[in-house]
Amino acid sequence: MSTTYTLDTATSRATPTPVPLKRLTVPAILRRKGGEPLVMLTAYTARTAQLLDPHCDMLLVGDSLGQVIYGLPSTVPVTLEMMAAHGAAVVRGSYHALVVIDMPFGSYEASPAHAFDSAARLMKETGAAAVKLEGGEAMAPTVRFLTERGIPVCGHVGLTPQAVNALGGYGARGRSAAEAAKIVADGKSIADAGAFALVIEGVMEPIAIALTQAVACPTIGIGASAHCDGQVLVAEDMLGMFERTAKFVKRYDDIAGRISAAAEAYAGEVRARTFPGAEQVYVPKE
Ligand code: KIV
Repeated sequence: MSTTYTLDTATSRATPTPVPLKRLTVPAILRRKGGEPLVMLTAYTARTAQLLDPHCDMLLVGDSLGQVIYGLPSTVPVTLEMMAAHGAAVVRGSYHALVVIDMPFGSYEASPAHAFDSAARLMKETGAAAVKLEGGEAMAPTVRFLTERGIPVCGHVGLTPQAVNALGGYGARGRSAAEAAKIVADGKSIADAGAFALVIEGVMEPIAIALTQAVACPTIGIGASAHCDGQVLVAEDMLGMFERTAKFVKRYDDIAGRISAAAEAYAGEVRARTFPGAEQVYVPKE
């Protein structure tokens, strides 16, 4: 697969990438610790990336694309090939935000060397500046291995969706004192290993606050706390694409309702033969 970072064109459906500007960098994200909150959303396609990019500091090519785009039951079946294809599209569609790409389940857990090969492939094939991986203390040596070799890593602790089969579901984590302490220890070990940011998902709020105070890198909350150094949501959840979402999702639109209404209007006009109208048909010049 070829690597395409920039296309210097005006935007259109045929040439969707705008004139490239300087992207936010990993050191710039690190400097935001304790400062202006970091804004992160997921993006899986070039056009969505274009629309979200001006408003975001980071775009996450999340493996949640397994459920959102492919209708899979979890993120477990997502492959490196799927991540690479969508990651390249998001990089082509953005020019301002730092693009972070998820390492899919099975592409990094076996060994630091395997993780390096997978991460290097994702970065080469997409142009993303950083990878994200899930897990706590057990993954710390891998985070160190990657960061020492020039691969910026974002950690992900608390509710880790790739571990759904071990966790038994997507419920919030850290209800017991022991589990809360484990999540804080997990986050610290990943940050100490060199992560430049740490996603904290689906935890009791005091855990997110304690971790945010305990680590030197910015924390990015999702179902965590407004006291994190930034927030992330799945864009389709936030846009109202799905009827059922987690408690932590706030819907800023009803995109599902709008798509449905537009499709209904189109279907009505096709059946009534009022579409296409005069403006949409080609007539030969006299
Ligand atoms: O895959 C994803 O979208 C994520 C976010 C929910 C943090 O990991």
